Amino acid sequence: MIKLALYPGTFDPVTNGHIDIIQRASELFDKIVVTVARNLSKTPLFTTEERVFLLKESLKNFNNVTVDSFDGLVVDHAHSVNACAIIRGLRAVSDFEYEFQMALMNRKLAADISTVFLMPNEKYTYLNSSIVRNLSQFGSDVSEFVPNVVQDALIKKYAVK
Ligand code: COA
Repeated sequence: MIKLALYPGTFDPVTNGHIDIIQRASELFDKIVVTVARNLSKTPLFTTEERVFLLKESLKNFNNVTVDSFDGLVVDHAHSVNACAIIRGLRAVSDFEYEFQMALMNRKLAADISTVFLMPNEKYTYLNSSIVRNLSQFGSDVSEFVPNVVQDALIKKYAVK
């Protein structure tokens, strides 16, 4: 039986820290579905379609990774793609409480799906999408933190804002 894991997130935009997690997950599972949350309390800079496109472009070289988007509960989407696990990244202790709460609630909602936490390379510990957006907004070079296609999209987005 194929072991499939779902990696949900906002990905506004995808960073090299996310890709590090996807790389690790793709070596542990047969297939990874990276899924962009549509319904968010956040107001993303990039539309869902743009976030999906940037992920697809950034993940072209992974042959067992696909990208989609979802509305509603992450566990419902996990069931719909036959995932046995949800992947989440843990960058620092500060991530733990929120992630622990979410993992336990997801387990209560769907006992057949386990959350698997992976730690990115320590150089990505301080990285998140807000920092990347913020740097880019003020014209800083973010090429160290995101794929080229994302850097280009950030430059274009802020040029028209
Ligand atoms: N590298 C870099 N940044 C990372 C990272 C990594 N490895 N892992 C997480 N981050 C950053 C993200 O960039 C994001 O940064 P930002 O807030 O500055 O934009 C931040 O950490 C939050 O990460 P994300 O994984 O996008 O989590 P989220 O809390 O925004 O959304 C969902 C998580 C999509 C899973 C959640 O909203 C969800 O499940 N929604 C569906 C509703 C649901 O099922 N609810 C019940 C849950 S109990």
